[in-house]
Amino acid sequence: MMADAPQPQARSRDPIGVFDSGVGGLSVLQALRAELPDERFVYVADSGHAPYGERDDIHVVARSQAITRYLVVQHRIKALVVACNTATAAAILQLRQEFPDLPIVGIEPALKPAAAQSHTRRIGVLATRGTLNSEKFRVLLASLQDQADFVLQACDGLADAIEQNDAIKTEALCVYFTRASGPFGIEQNCVDTLVLGCTHYPFAADILRAQVGESVIFLEGGAPVARQTRRLLAARSWLATEHTLAPAVVFGTTGDPSKMQAAIARWLHEDCEVQSLNIE
Ligand code: DGL
Repeated sequence: MMADAPQPQARSRDPIGVFDSGVGGLSVLQALRAELPDERFVYVADSGHAPYGERDDIHVVARSQAITRYLVVQHRIKALVVACNTATAAAILQLRQEFPDLPIVGIEPALKPAAAQSHTRRIGVLATRGTLNSEKFRVLLASLQDQADFVLQACDGLADAIEQNDAIKTEALCVYFTRASGPFGIEQNCVDTLVLGCTHYPFAADILRAQVGESVIFLEGGAPVARQTRRLLAARSWLATEHTLAPAVVFGTTGDPSKMQAAIARWLHEDCEVQSLNIE
């Protein structure tokens, strides 16, 4: 006898899986929780295998697959958010192939909104080397090439410095990479819009802001990702309909849980348990 398909209501109580190479995806988690306050989330930081941005695709695809399998099998997630531009670019096709019934939302640098908003038509893009070198990014850029000049900057080391909470290195790299992308401002030939194309970079926004000035628009992808997640769940009637007593987010890391805990306290102002994970 064939097993009955799960009822929509049964799935509505399951959590949403979210992962990143490390703590950067917490910037996306914030947007998800704002958009979907009744949902439960399982967040995996793959800090033990980070950074992804300067590694080859084979590594990033293998890590993304291993984490997704863990989330599906151990947590029965009803949807997956790949809260990492680098992993989205390298692995989302393979993940969709392996899990055709799982709604999967990825993140990409916000080039389209930037092209729509920029007045000078000169747009800075800060991202990892992996994202900028990817085929997915090449296609996105080509589709907008006639709308603006995009100044691309691979920020080697920046996600790692943010991950390690190394303030001196983070500041030095932000200074270096913004100088390489400028001049910034609203005058002609200046970059007036800066795309933060890695989910770690919003956590360096104040430092970047000090370099480029108040007039420059910053764009990141968390809010559109959260809205797309809502749309996909609503289409299946899988949105949570009631509050549960279970914790809103279960956090885990393949790195050092105390470092992750400190990052959550620093950026989300929350004190919570972080599980140590061994995902192979
Ligand atoms: N946070 C990731 C991204 O959005 C990558 C950081 C890294 O591991 O290099 O691209």
